[in-house]
Formats: sequence, structure tokens, C-alpha cells
Amino acid sequence: MELTVRAPAKINLHLGVGAPREDGYHPLLTVYQAVGLYDDLTARSAPEWALGAALPDWMPADAVPLAGENIVDRAADLLAAHHGIVRTGEVHITKSIPVAGGMAGGSADAAAALVALDRLWQVGTSDDDLLALAAQLGSDVPFALLGGTALGTGRGEVVDPVDDRGTWWWVVVPSDRGLSTPEVYRHFDRMFPDAPSEPVPADALLRAIAEGDAWALADSLHNDLEAAAIDLRPELGDLIEAGEDAGALRGIVSGSGPTCVFLCGSADQARSLAAELSGTGHPVVLAANGPVAGAHLVSYA
Ligand code: C5P
Repeated sequence: MELTVRAPAKINLHLGVGAPREDGYHPLLTVYQAVGLYDDLTARSAPEWALGAALPDWMPADAVPLAGENIVDRAADLLAAHHGIVRTGEVHITKSIPVAGGMAGGSADAAAALVALDRLWQVGTSDDDLLALAAQLGSDVPFALLGGTALGTGRGEVVDPVDDRGTWWWVVVPSDRGLSTPEVYRHFDRMFPDAPSEPVPADALLRAIAEGDAWALADSLHNDLEAAAIDLRPELGDLIEAGEDAGALRGIVSGSGPTCVFLCGSADQARSLAAELSGTGHPVVLAANGPVAGAHLVSYA
């Protein structure tokens, strides 16, 4: 048996971050959106476990650890242990989501692995159990299963779909050097030692997407990690300014960065902004629409 599961990148339309909890995680109130940049994961029956990956030219060759440390290895171990079996199969990841960029590429791979291996091993895991296993793998893995547009609370792992009447167009600009998520959170703590324990709400933004109002969405995009990411990488501030000067409705750091995303008024505007930004020293500029589906089967044989 061979099957392929596709999982999307995410952006955070709103990322409200509170003061760290006792377990070190930060309480979040976030609005996730799945956008049309995908990693594909192909799983094939085989007696032994093997994991490989194919990367686009623009991604650093060592971006995906393969010596048993990949989040996909952990996803396989967790699912196998849940069912009391031993992991088997040949798994191959075809990457397109920028790595260490604030778009949850590793989380997408983990979600794709859970869906693919559940099917390959024919273990029939319930949706609730898949979501619980996903939460153990990372704060934004449950969202990669769900997709669409969703409110994330807790440390980001509690996800609930929200109304979204728009088709939104984004230009995505990855950086050639990733940023470590824990490092950005630590920097946030240093910059904002008096952060309130309750993260800021997203009421205006939730109204904007429910109404499909692009200008209101542009006005209400919010990321509490942006100042920390820009302080660590000041050039991100220049990039956001350049994108807005070139016609984006709004630019913002995605999650913990350093990828930046720009909201555009139409598909045509996204394509022309992407062309303009790629002519200014950014070798990789991608256009993507959202919301799109979470991890889903795309081929089965
Ligand atoms: O949950 P995940 O493994 O994706 O988180 C990676 C790191 O990001 C955590 O170890 C922590 O440093 C930081 N983090 C956080 N608060 C969150 C989510 C992540 O501090 N809500």
C-alpha cells in the first residue's frame, strides 16, 4: 500500500501572547489560518522504518533532520505506542513550507504523518485521539490536522473553527536563516517582563473575517511576537515597510518569524507584489491563498 497526505502551512492572523505559565509555555489566544503552501508525505508499506526527504533548491540542505530526530519519527513512535505496535514503513517528505520560519512546517509534517500512518497501519484512530496525540507533538500540530481558520487557546493546542467568509491572498517571504521559536519567546519575555497573564483578544479580527472585509482584516492583524522577532532581525522591519510601500494592505511577521506575510486585495495584486519583492534581493517569494484544508489524503494505491 502507498498513500500521500498533504498538510498546509499556517499563518497567525492574531497572536496574543501572555506571561509564561508555570510549565514555561505561554498562554495564547491566536487565530490560525491554513494557507496553500504544502508539505506532502508519502508512506509505503515496508518491513522496516525509513524516513527520507526532498527539499526545494532554495531550502538549506540540512534543514530537515533525518537521523532519527525528525518530528515525523516522533509522530510514528507516538501513534505506534498508542496502539501497542512497532512502527514500520518507508516515509518520504516533499518539503515546500519554509523551515524554522514561523509557518509550522514541522507541525504540518507531524500532522501528515499521523493521518498517513493511521491509514497505512489500518489502526482506525479516533479524531479525538489523533488531536490528543497531535497536541503531544507540538502546540500547533492539532491545527495542522484541522486546517481552515481556527481560534487557538491554551498553549495553541486547543483549536476551534471560526467563521471565515473570505478568500484571502497572501505573499509569503521566507528568510534564508531560520529563527528558533523558543529563542523568540525568550526574547519576548526579556522585552515585556510585565506582560499580562491574559493574552489580548481578537474580537475585531474575528468580525473582519466573518464579514470577509479585507481592509478591516488588514487593520486588525496582530502579532505580539513581532517586536521580538524584529529586534532579533531588524531587516524584517524594512521588509514589511517595503511590502506595504509596494501596495500590500498590510505586512506582518508570521508567528515567531522570520517569514513575513503580506495581505493583498486580490490574486492579481499578490502576483504582482510577489514579482516586485522578488526583484529586491529576496530570492524566494511565494503567493498563497487561505483558508485551505488541514492534513488530507491526496493519493492512495
Ligand atoms: O509546542 P512546541 O514544541 O511547538 O513549542 C516549541 C517551543 O516554543 C516551546 O518549547 C516553548 O519554548 C515555545 N512556546 C511557548 N509557548 C507556546 C508555544 C510554544 O513558550 N504557547
